[in-house]
Amino acid sequence: MNVADSQTVSAVLRRAGYVSADRVEDADVILLNTCAIREHAEEKVLHRLRELARLKQSRPEVKLGLLGCMAQHNRVAIMEKAAFLDVVAGPDSYRRLPEMLGRAGDNYNASIDVRLDRAETYADITPDYGGGVRAYVTAMRGCDKFCAFCVVPFVRGRERSIPPSDLMREIGELAARGVKEVVLLGQTVNAYRFGDTGFSALLKMVASIGGIERIRFMSPHPGDVSDSLIEAMATEPKVQPHLHLPIQSGSDRILAAMERGYTVAEYLALVARVRAAIPAVAISTDIIVGFHGEEESDFEATTDVMRAVGYDSAFMFKYSVREHTRAFRLGDSVSEEEKGRRLIALIALQEEMSIARNRAMVGREFPVLVEGPARRGGGMMAGKTPQFKTAIFAVDTAAVGTAAGDTVNVRVDSASSHSLMCSLA
Ligand code: 5AD
Ligand code: SF4
Repeated sequence: MNVADSQTVSAVLRRAGYVSADRVEDADVILLNTCAIREHAEEKVLHRLRELARLKQSRPEVKLGLLGCMAQHNRVAIMEKAAFLDVVAGPDSYRRLPEMLGRAGDNYNASIDVRLDRAETYADITPDYGGGVRAYVTAMRGCDKFCAFCVVPFVRGRERSIPPSDLMREIGELAARGVKEVVLLGQTVNAYRFGDTGFSALLKMVASIGGIERIRFMSPHPGDVSDSLIEAMATEPKVQPHLHLPIQSGSDRILAAMERGYTVAEYLALVARVRAAIPAVAISTDIIVGFHGEEESDFEATTDVMRAVGYDSAFMFKYSVREHTRAFRLGDSVSEEEKGRRLIALIALQEEMSIARNRAMVGREFPVLVEGPARRGGGMMAGKTPQFKTAIFAVDTAAVGTAAGDTVNVRVDSASSHSLMCSLA
């Protein structure tokens, strides 16, 4: 989401006549886009800001700005800790950045704009796409779910969807530039609705765009997984068989305190429906450990659910109390050490399950959209399977060329928790 937002910021500034610098040392304007979801991210940002502020010592004309959710969330505290900032802009203020940068530095006051705007979708601004076979396209912004732990509804504001016509235009342009895969983005992307167009209808519209071969979306909310979404995934071949289904906890008591809006039984029934309709589906999740009130038994319930579902992968986090959220007032009953212990145990369990699930792929064949040379080098190429698993394979240079954007069939030879080693099938 933030990468996509940064691409929007880049497009706004380019329209105003700015060009991008290759190195941070050469830039006259440095903007740091930020996340507020956990406190840890904030500490990293302050550290980075102080590093960047050093560039101002030799070049005082450099303008340094803080963008995004952290700017929105605690501008007061940040301005105290980082008084050298010239610009502070929240997620709905990017359109005004050129004026803000023009004003910055007057009277040595920072230019601050953190107004949330129910109507701002940046629908008319085509983000500066970063190149490659995959592009991320924001389909909706904001969130109305207000999970008790989460700061997103406060820093990104209310749910709003981008008109299908703008999305179709943008994705059409991407296809013309060689993009083969789009990832539709939104905080609760499957809550997408514009007039009569719901999310499954949007998926089908995007699937009609020539040149786009694969469609993914991130991040859905379990409560908004409708039968029509499952049907679209099952029947539209371009929609890839991967569903990210954040569970957060495997304990009903904690889920209720988190105000997630589903029980473990409902969640498991949904997983069963999805698997019945889309047998090849990979399922991933997000889990928080150490939410206020989480007892050892609640934590064990989470590990039980992880085993029951058998996730392909998971993002796991220690609970971080966030100001403004409903859970802020509840407290933080689990110690940092205990959160750490639970997190390590969860990561180890997921690692085991990821390996097992990936090993089960050995001997099977998958179409892989080639992205480019593998990070490990050695002439290997990398791409994703439909399930969004990384496939690494050697290309036969004597045979027909395999380039980024091609789809090749590979057979899995061996697997680790994070990638599949394959040969061309
Ligand atoms: N503490 C820890 N993790 C959080 N997430 C959201 N808010 C918090 C928080 N306060 C996690 C959730 C969400 C993911 C994007 O970040 O698991 O799904
Ligand atoms: Fe946060 Fe819940 Fe909205 Fe996801 S659905 S962004 S966890 S409030």
